[in-house]
Amino acid sequence: MVVETAKAHEGQRMLVHAGAGGVGHFAVQFASYFGAHVIATGSARNAAFLRELGAAEVVDYTAGPFEEAVGEVDAVIDLIGDVAHETGSRSLRVIRPGGLYVNGPTGSFPTMREKAEAAGVRATGFRVSPDAATLAIVTRLLESRDVRVYVDRVLPLEEVAEAHRLIETGSTRGKIVLTVAEG
Ligand SMILES: NC(=O)c1ccc[n+]([C@@H]2O[C@H](COP(=O)([O-])OP(=O)(O)OC[C@H]3O[C@@H](n4cnc5c(N)ncnc54)[C@H](OP(=O)(O)O)[C@@H]3O)[C@@H](O)[C@H]2O)c1
Repeated sequence: MVVETAKAHEGQRMLVHAGAGGVGHFAVQFASYFGAHVIATGSARNAAFLRELGAAEVVDYTAGPFEEAVGEVDAVIDLIGDVAHETGSRSLRVIRPGGLYVNGPTGSFPTMREKAEAAGVRATGFRVSPDAATLAIVTRLLESRDVRVYVDRVLPLEEVAEAHRLIETGSTRGKIVLTVAEG
């Protein structure tokens, strides 16, 4: 989403919604590693965490409409969509003409294409498909510690239901890890 689709680069302003989550904390790190000026949304308790990940600006989406705090951006990585507070639709308002909206959660913004066209911006969905070449680059970034994995909780496989309950709160930070065997 960040590197191949939104082509993160120096001088680019990129807004990442849900930057403290399992996907978002990588999105913020990749975008900032590749030089983008990252603006991340999250609640106040995640502000310091988001800055540590490389966000240049953090916007508390619970404090008021994010559109009022975010200037014009070149690209939005939206990990929320219209299912909460019309985040997808409202994101279109902060994208420069011809800029790019990328939606992560499948089905979360059914009117994306019409609304993006009306707003004069490009829009695309994204669904991850593992690719060896990309994973090799990600591995190098992890090994060099330029990118890190934040693990919120580690649970044994038997507690998978609890893992789902935690994810469903919508407020976990980084990843929940399930251990499937003793190492
Ligand atoms: N297309 C694909 O290939 C693909 C792959 C993986 C995941 N996904 C989808 O991508 C989405 C994100 O996944 P995830 O695993 O990163 O989720 P997650 O870890 O559950 O995200 C939790 C984070 O979202 C933040 N958050 C919640 N509501 C928010 C809002 N309205 N605005 C900004 N931040 C908000 C929370 O921060 P606060 O606690 O600070 O509110 C929390 O840190 C999910 O819908 C998932 O299904 C898609």
